[in-house]
Amino acid sequence: MSSLSDLVLPHIARLHAYTPGQQPGESGWIKLNTNESGYPPSPRVAEAIQRELAEGGARLRLYPNPSSVAVRAAVAAYHGQGLTAENVLVGNGSDDVLNLLVRCFGGGGAATGFTFPSYSLYPVLVGIQDGRSETIPFDRSMRLPVAQIAASPARAFFLTSPNAPTGVGFSAAEIEDVLARFAGVLVLDEAYAPFARHDGVSLLARHPRLVIVRTLSKAHALAGLRVGYALAHPEMIGFLDRVRDSYNVNRLSQVGAIAALQDTAYYADLIARVRATRDRCWQAWAEGLGWFAYPSEANFIFVEPRNARGETGVAVARSLDEALRARRILVRSFPNHPLTASFLRISVGTDADMAAVDDVLLAWQKHAH
Ligand SMILES: Cc1ncc(COP(=O)(O)O)c(C=O)c1O
Repeated sequence: MSSLSDLVLPHIARLHAYTPGQQPGESGWIKLNTNESGYPPSPRVAEAIQRELAEGGARLRLYPNPSSVAVRAAVAAYHGQGLTAENVLVGNGSDDVLNLLVRCFGGGGAATGFTFPSYSLYPVLVGIQDGRSETIPFDRSMRLPVAQIAASPARAFFLTSPNAPTGVGFSAAEIEDVLARFAGVLVLDEAYAPFARHDGVSLLARHPRLVIVRTLSKAHALAGLRVGYALAHPEMIGFLDRVRDSYNVNRLSQVGAIAALQDTAYYADLIARVRATRDRCWQAWAEGLGWFAYPSEANFIFVEPRNARGETGVAVARSLDEALRARRILVRSFPNHPLTASFLRISVGTDADMAAVDDVLLAWQKHAH
């Protein structure tokens, strides 16, 4: 008899699965570790889901629309700029869309590129398809290494803008520079773009090798609904559609997503609030406490804590992480690489959440050494 470990494909046996941020089962935590929204979604989302559940949920007998047609139309209307439903593919979260992209362009030994640091799911998706990861490291400036990306042999390059976990955003001009010099498919992961000054949507009309990936998990406060989408040339959407699960977005998510995309006034207000809180926190930490933090265009801040002796480093970051945890505040640390180990990534929650963080930071800085 063969054992399962003899039977499983060798690249799956070697695979290190993605580690999601901690999701505590019990309430009472201030969760600032996975860049969810601190605020609820538009009330229209729950109303739309309730309507879909009418008559005791009778509609749940039926499969959802297989290609999320109404969501695609709502996404196109939301972005405008000449986009139509033909430019849109909807996924079960943007993770699903990223997976479809790797299925199309990154499996079977092909090279897929991304920067370090960026979203740590990319190498896992490449590993699942038995592809080859080509990593281009940032230096501490976190400026975009355009020449290195241009020279990459990758069929597809995944670029996160604003980047995670740094929060640093790249301008449309920088993205266009990459598109002019890199020969492959550029996947621009804009999970955090609603919080940024720039986005790449206007580039789509001129660049058929560009795919923009968006999510409703962050700015739209719907991480639990699992809806993300790709914006691209119809030919690209056609390839992604070939490798998509037929019913990848469920009924409740489809109606909820449409309600969210249509309530632009609610989200304009919510995004403005998060940005204001973010900028206030950045100023308090960078200028008030004198800590280094990358200027953030996202809904989180990547900050390098400094203790009472003026020291930074992985042990210092761990000490603050523990102090926050003791007050039931969860943030994210990245202890395994010199570019990230001395930092903590703190999601921007409500003003009350951030006041609780500020209390811990001030007390810790006075006493930690
Ligand atoms: C850069 C980036 N892309 C994509 C995602 C995944 O989002 P979704 O919830 O849509 O799968 C995340 C989530 O943290 C992210 O940080």
